[in-house]
Amino acid sequence: MQIISTSLALLVLGDIVGAFGSAAKRGEHENLPWEAATQKANEFISQLNITEKARIVTGSLNFGGRGCIGNILPIERLNFSGICLQDGPTAMNRADLVSVFPSGITVAASWDRELIYQRGRALGEEFRGKGAHVILGPVAGPLGRHPLGGRNWEGFSPDPYLTGVAMEETIKGIQSMGIQACAKHYIGNEQEVQRSNTFVNGTEIAAISSNIDDRTLHELYLWPFANSVKANVSSFMCSYNRLNQTYACENDNILNQVLKKELGFQGYVMSDWFATHSGPKSINAGLDLDMPGVIDAASLITGDSYFGGNITKYLDEGSVAEERLDDMIRRIMTQYYLLKQDNSNFPETDPTLLMTLAASVGQFFGIPEIPGGLVARDVRGDHAQLIRQMAAEATVLLKNTNETLPLKSPQSIAVFGNDANDPINGLYQGSNEDYEFGVVDIGGGSGTARHTYLVSPLQAIRARAERQNGTRFQHITNNALLARGDFSSLFPVPEVCLVFLGTWASEGQDRTELEADWNSTLVVENVAGRCPNTIVVTHSAGINSMPWADNPNVTAILAAHLPGQEAGNSVVDVLWGDVNPSGRLPYTIGKESKDFGPPIVNLTEAEVTSPTAWQANFVEGQLIDYRHFDSAGIDPLYDFGFGLSYTTFEVEGELGVESVSGGGNLTARTTPMNTAVPGGNPELWETILLAKTQVKNTGKRAGSAVPQLYVSFPGSEVPSGTPLQVLRGFDKVDLEPGESKVVSFNLQRRDLSYWNVDLQDWVLPAGAFEFKVGFSSRNTAVSASKALR
Ligand SMILES: *[C@@H]1O[C@H](CO)[C@@H](O)[C@H](O)[C@H]1NC(C)=O
Ligand SMILES: *[C@@H]1O[C@H](CO)[C@@H](O)[C@H](O)[C@H]1NC(C)=O
Ligand SMILES: *[C@@H]1O[C@H](CO)[C@@H](O)[C@H](O)[C@H]1NC(C)=O
Ligand SMILES: *[C@@H]1O[C@H](CO)[C@@H](O)[C@H](O)[C@H]1NC(C)=O
Ligand SMILES: *[C@@H]1O[C@H](CO)[C@@H](O)[C@H](O)[C@H]1NC(C)=O
Ligand SMILES: *[C@@H]1O[C@H](CO)[C@@H](O)[C@H](O)[C@H]1NC(C)=O
Ligand SMILES: *[C@@H]1O[C@H](CO)[C@@H](O)[C@H](O)[C@H]1NC(C)=O
Ligand SMILES: *[C@@H]1O[C@H](CO)[C@@H](O)[C@H](O)[C@H]1NC(C)=O
Ligand SMILES: *[C@@H]1O[C@H](CO)[C@@H](O)[C@H](O)[C@H]1NC(C)=O
Ligand SMILES: *[C@@H]1O[C@H](CO)[C@@H](O)[C@H](O)[C@H]1NC(C)=O
Ligand SMILES: *[C@@H]1O[C@H](CO)[C@@H](O)[C@H](O)[C@H]1NC(C)=O
Ligand SMILES: *[C@@H]1O[C@H](CO)[C@@H](O)[C@H](O)[C@H]1NC(C)=O
Repeated sequence: MQIISTSLALLVLGDIVGAFGSAAKRGEHENLPWEAATQKANEFISQLNITEKARIVTGSLNFGGRGCIGNILPIERLNFSGICLQDGPTAMNRADLVSVFPSGITVAASWDRELIYQRGRALGEEFRGKGAHVILGPVAGPLGRHPLGGRNWEGFSPDPYLTGVAMEETIKGIQSMGIQACAKHYIGNEQEVQRSNTFVNGTEIAAISSNIDDRTLHELYLWPFANSVKANVSSFMCSYNRLNQTYACENDNILNQVLKKELGFQGYVMSDWFATHSGPKSINAGLDLDMPGVIDAASLITGDSYFGGNITKYLDEGSVAEERLDDMIRRIMTQYYLLKQDNSNFPETDPTLLMTLAASVGQFFGIPEIPGGLVARDVRGDHAQLIRQMAAEATVLLKNTNETLPLKSPQSIAVFGNDANDPINGLYQGSNEDYEFGVVDIGGGSGTARHTYLVSPLQAIRARAERQNGTRFQHITNNALLARGDFSSLFPVPEVCLVFLGTWASEGQDRTELEADWNSTLVVENVAGRCPNTIVVTHSAGINSMPWADNPNVTAILAAHLPGQEAGNSVVDVLWGDVNPSGRLPYTIGKESKDFGPPIVNLTEAEVTSPTAWQANFVEGQLIDYRHFDSAGIDPLYDFGFGLSYTTFEVEGELGVESVSGGGNLTARTTPMNTAVPGGNPELWETILLAKTQVKNTGKRAGSAVPQLYVSFPGSEVPSGTPLQVLRGFDKVDLEPGESKVVSFNLQRRDLSYWNVDLQDWVLPAGAFEFKVGFSSRNTAVSASKALR
């Protein structure tokens, strides 16, 4: 939060402590100085023989009782106990006695930097507690080119600025606990269909190639990864797909040139699991660590990896230089020493990780089932409370006719929809079918997690209704019945009908429908046909169409996304008004399916006429999500940044825009530099402009406003393809009824520059920019214009 006066700042701090309780701690991990960490890494390298060097840059599964999904083997004679890497961005996957947090898309909807930081910090705390050194997250790829992308929920928002802030806060939170974060999946991993190579009748068919032009790469897909480097992220994961015909993990341009040189990334790049397609080519392109590497320790000598035992051969034949091998190890080990993970106070890896790994993916990796007997280390702390608060706050109120919400002690409630249920197939689900009955609180694939418990809406609403004496509570949660319109069990018509809709998604497959799953439209229409006060709650892994949104009997809509283990409690807090929802859409909802973004490339067998047939041409450039709706002149159903509150807000007064950097004329380009520093040229991160206005709570309840700053570049001074407006600032402001606060937005040089392809540099255009502040992309109340040079 950026509030002007000190007294207000104290007030805001008070609110944060109130909101996040005892878990609200900020502060950086006391890292070892960079030079000292590098020196330690160099000393370590100097003691390694070639076999050991190969071990550090090649992962290994199943060794010495440690069951991490990625492992760097220990080297006992040097007292190096190895490095444990664990999925995923939302929780520690597979492990027992961990928390299931709200997913990335959910916290993006909070638009709350502090909340996003605290989630990262709590995740870091749990990974540390389990003795895992690296968390495989957060996610900025997919960014969300396709509304139906199967992994969009693991990341944040299709807007690069919002995702950039979320990456930065998450990484700072994680690394503040001395845990290495991993920015993934780098880059262009926008769809799951054919994300990796496949074999058809013995012929290798290459993974999809994301063909992205240089400017779009810089201003859209690379943008949040640049924030990650700036936040000193320890590692990057290169993605499965090809980028401009070359696999991401062997792509010299995006690894060596863009990431390491231009962005000055000092950490290491690991491959996504089985995404390495070559030895020397990958190593020389900038890949530092092959994952998962070899399957067992013995095969490090004889096994199957482009790295591993082959590295000696590469050195002998001269295709890889030993200096490069040392550079790879230095990059990995410097991060380990920097975060003091060699310290004896770093917890030993929870031995039960091997059991939970074997139970979930053991067969795949050839790990035998391991008998139980050990109890997992409980690392959940007081995170349940944090999860409940985060999820409630991040809920987006899209419609609220006649203030039907919050509920006013209704005497007769009914709950509908299969998403309201307790899951009937267990608490660690893998496939869509498993989710027919059960609240969708997290997606599938490597980013999923094993719940220790899951509070369903049915459970939480029933408990809440029981507190009100005599409230009638009915429920029909079988969608097949509801879709048929069979309401024979319902009597009388309830005062309030709550319909819960789920939309599941997973790594490895993209969604096929924009509507929520399981005949959701029929379910809503049939309930609303009988019930004039129908409230729809969606639990969704992505963007949904809402063909029923304008139905007059649908009086309220809440988008709760993927809230994590406290799903039911957090929605009850919002429904009954204990929490005033302050989520805002981190994407756009269109009226018709043709309005949404570019379709996923999905070739039929007949269309795969060559091994390189899979091509995704990013011809829309930067015009995805609201940028697309703006430029095509399409009215959305609910626009980017939109969300209601139980109170109302106004922007008061003018929008002031002032230069802050030393006066004088700003030059078009930055001063060239010779050394690589994290984030690239530091001038890009300098604040050059300050925009300021005031927001007021004009309603009767306390609530949080989310003022947003949109910038339009001077049209005549920028190349075509520039979006009509882009988000370049936001704040979350807690306001009592009648209260006003000044909000200010810092604009950095990068925020006001475009990537000039010819100059290969960011350029600050001449001419007048337009600045607008309001409460969503289509609702900006004040504006100002200013030329920078
Ligand atoms: C390197 O050291 C390991 C012990 O960590 C030993 O087993 C191995 O034989 C050595 N390799 C070479 C090439 O000396
Ligand atoms: C490894 O640790 C042991 C026990 O703490 C110590 O005696 C030994 O000197 C250490 N060896 C190295 C190479 O640091
Ligand atoms: C693969 O082989 C099967 C059986 O011979 C054939 O039906 C199919 O068309 C082949 N697919 C391709 C892509 O060649
Ligand atoms: C991809 O290829 C296009 C066409 O050759 C080129 O303009 C663009 O710069 C390349 N993109 C990247 C990120 O290298
Ligand atoms: C990144 O690390 C450098 C020192 O290596 C430090 O000066 C800088 O403040 C760090 N940035 C963040 C965001 O932590
Ligand atoms: C070396 O790499 C090849 C693939 O190029 C693989 O088939 C072979 O098993 C690897 N050898 C070792 C020792 O890892
Ligand atoms: C909302 O309130 C208005 C005015 O009181 C009324 O005419 C309308 O019927 C109400 N709508 C619903 C859905 O209750
Ligand atoms: C419910 O009934 C109990 C006992 O009659 C009473 O103490 C309590 O206040 C009532 N609660 C509500 C919400 O009316
Ligand atoms: C891709 O096409 C196949 C059939 O060829 C279909 O089963 C699958 O659902 C499609 N996937 C997507 C994401 O459209
Ligand atoms: C959706 O409804 C149709 C027709 O009522 C039915 O055939 C189908 O099985 C339903 N699907 C689901 C997933 O319930
Ligand atoms: C709204 O509910 C009433 C019953 O109260 C029903 O008669 C009407 O058809 C419903 N309208 C819609 C659009 O479902
Ligand atoms: C910046 O330079 C331009 C042209 O060189 C000049 O017209 C303009 O007045 C200058 N602006 C400021 C604020 O000095």
